Amino acid sequence: MLKAGGALGALGAMAVAAPAQGRVPWTWSAAGSVAGRGAGTDPRYVWDDEADPLVAALLDRGDVPRVNQLLAGWTKNGQPLPAGLPTDLRDFMERARQLPSWADQRKLATAVEFNEKRGLYLGVLYGLASGMMSTVIPKEARAVYYSQGGADMKDRISKTAKLGYDIGARNAYQPDGEMVVTCVKTRLVHAAVRHLLPKSPQWTQAADEEIPISQRDMMVTWHSLPTTVMQKLVAWKIPMPAAESTAFLHSWQVGAHLLGIRDEYIPASWSEANAQAAQVLTPVLAATPEGIKLADILLNLGSSVDGGVLSKPILGAFTRFLLGDEIAGWVKIPREPVWDPLLRTAWGPFIAVREGLLPLPGAPESYWLFDEFLRKAALLFLSEAKPINITIPETNRPS
Ligand code: HEM
Repeated sequence: MLKAGGALGALGAMAVAAPAQGRVPWTWSAAGSVAGRGAGTDPRYVWDDEADPLVAALLDRGDVPRVNQLLAGWTKNGQPLPAGLPTDLRDFMERARQLPSWADQRKLATAVEFNEKRGLYLGVLYGLASGMMSTVIPKEARAVYYSQGGADMKDRISKTAKLGYDIGARNAYQPDGEMVVTCVKTRLVHAAVRHLLPKSPQWTQAADEEIPISQRDMMVTWHSLPTTVMQKLVAWKIPMPAAESTAFLHSWQVGAHLLGIRDEYIPASWSEANAQAAQVLTPVLAATPEGIKLADILLNLGSSVDGGVLSKPILGAFTRFLLGDEIAGWVKIPREPVWDPLLRTAWGPFIAVREGLLPLPGAPESYWLFDEFLRKAALLFLSEAKPINITIPETNRPS
């Protein structure tokens, strides 16, 4: 289930941000960040000073195929970088792979325990709350749709799934884990997208910005992942020691840093995260033609396994249940006469039973059905998530 959690979770990373975003002023104070202070610059106008010019140069001088080939063998956090990388890239990657000075190994170890205990819920939430939310974050939906990966969503999801899997793995940030590698490679991918998408006539026409994936967008997507997940776990009254909830946050703070987000934008606590999310995530959620198409592709992913007979209605109903009628309506998810009411009425008791809050013997059999369906839903996605190598794209979506 942990694996499944990772696979589903990765879907969450595919979200894109909305047009209203630029108009919402940035008032969140850096005093609430892991850095504790900062210039207060609106991250809407901050990208990645280090990675962007570097990757643009790699693309311009035709180095990317060779770099991708060399990096294919670089998979473990503790592994030396391969010989033969361009010097500027090597120097950057050596810096970028360092954990931040504030990384706390004790908290990261507690996060592992949390991920193991809560793998089932995390799988469902990453996939169907975060993942589907990404389709109503307009900037993300457009970037994903018009970038190279948008043309092959199966491949794209399996790649994105890797991050969700790696952060939940037992050795995530340890030398034999893969989360650091995944984050650094993703940072390079995002830098490439910033260089490539502005050359796409389709993206340029649809987008309301000149350069995609600002630091503000990064935080929007970040909130669609851990912040949204934690909000649901709290709403579902999942018993959670404070140390575990803080540790889960910490693993995502470290991930944000490794993805190139500045420390002054990374929230230091859940209350700061919730405050920032209310400012940058909630107001930008909206439907776009690209997001509607992506949502449809996501809900149909299980079709290769069961022809969509069971997977599509269940995934759709879960999405409606988790994100609400309004968002489900935006991405044109049909109402499900069986699954919608069942989730509404039985999900609370199901959780209560699982968490031992209700006496087990009297629990109706149907509550246990959920476990089975959740596993099935998770596995459908997992089957897409083969071990995969994240590569720097060289082009946009072919028109
Ligand atoms: C690629 C994760 C934010 C757009 C990726 C990949 C991962 C990832 C793991 C590599 C997968 C691949 O190569 O297909 C994340 C995480 C984010 C984040 C964890 C925030 C915490 C964003 C945002 C946008 C975005 C804000 C757009 C506004 C893209 C695009 C690609 C990509 C377009 C490349 C697709 C391609 O052409 O293959 N991201 N992402 N991401 N991401 Fe993100």
